[in-house]
Amino acid sequence: MKGVVLAGGTATRLFPLTIVTNKHLLPIYDRPMIYYPIATLADMGITEVMVIVGGKSVGDVVELLADGKHFGLDLTYRYQRGALGIAHAIGLVREFVGDDCFCVVLGDNVLLGPPLAHVAREFENGPWGAGTLLYEVADPERFGVAELDASGNVVGFEEKPTKPKSNLIPIGVYFLRPDAFGVVDQLVPSLRGEFEITDVLNHYLPGKLFSRKFEGIWTDAGTVTSLIRAAELAEQESQAGRLAEPPTRPAP
Ligand code: DAU
Repeated sequence: MKGVVLAGGTATRLFPLTIVTNKHLLPIYDRPMIYYPIATLADMGITEVMVIVGGKSVGDVVELLADGKHFGLDLTYRYQRGALGIAHAIGLVREFVGDDCFCVVLGDNVLLGPPLAHVAREFENGPWGAGTLLYEVADPERFGVAELDASGNVVGFEEKPTKPKSNLIPIGVYFLRPDAFGVVDQLVPSLRGEFEITDVLNHYLPGKLFSRKFEGIWTDAGTVTSLIRAAELAEQESQAGRLAEPPTRPAP
């Protein structure tokens, strides 16, 4: 399985913090934000990772992560012009992915908890077309939201609904196959002008979507409140001895 981190976008929700720098470089406790999604992929046993970059300070993102050796990874980069959406960014990794399965992690998602290698393997060996991880939150209207039937099966996702149908959201971890590029090609932008990942997930419902509850601690870090919360959670995990030391930068 290959890995993808999405670190494009404009991060307007964090202005003025991100007027002149890239959101993914902001500190969360003792390391830059982007170290968390990178570690999520590395902990799955994935070694080949493409980072989609865009927005401000792209050169600094590349300088920080370099060739990825200090994470045990082989990193490559691709530039996304404009913030056209998560599904648009996924469309840029087609050649990198080739015939392989791949896992996409959003660059502002912080997953603290059990490594996901077994989940990745389950998806890879199973019949599903796409997969995601679900998590219960108090403010689902900020995210994609799952709609469930009476037996608790996911029957659809809505992006940032004003009246969420549950508290369960797909977090920014997506398991996909090359088939997803055909789905991305057919998408039309949403009312907010983005190619939405929830439209890609909906394509695989019913029956072909893999979903598992994430058993650890999760937050995004795309707003000031969630950025602070992410730092507090990371500090708690570190003090409990559950956060690995951040890798140091390789010699230039
Ligand atoms: O965090 C989970 C949520 O992430 C999901 O529940 C939603 O379904 C999904 O749409 C997404 O919602 P956000 O509104 O929080 O996504 P955001 O625009 O903040 O982008 C998330 C990351 O993806 C961010 O770190 C930058 C990257 N990105 C985003 C866009 C729009 C790109 O690389 N390119 C883009 O065009």
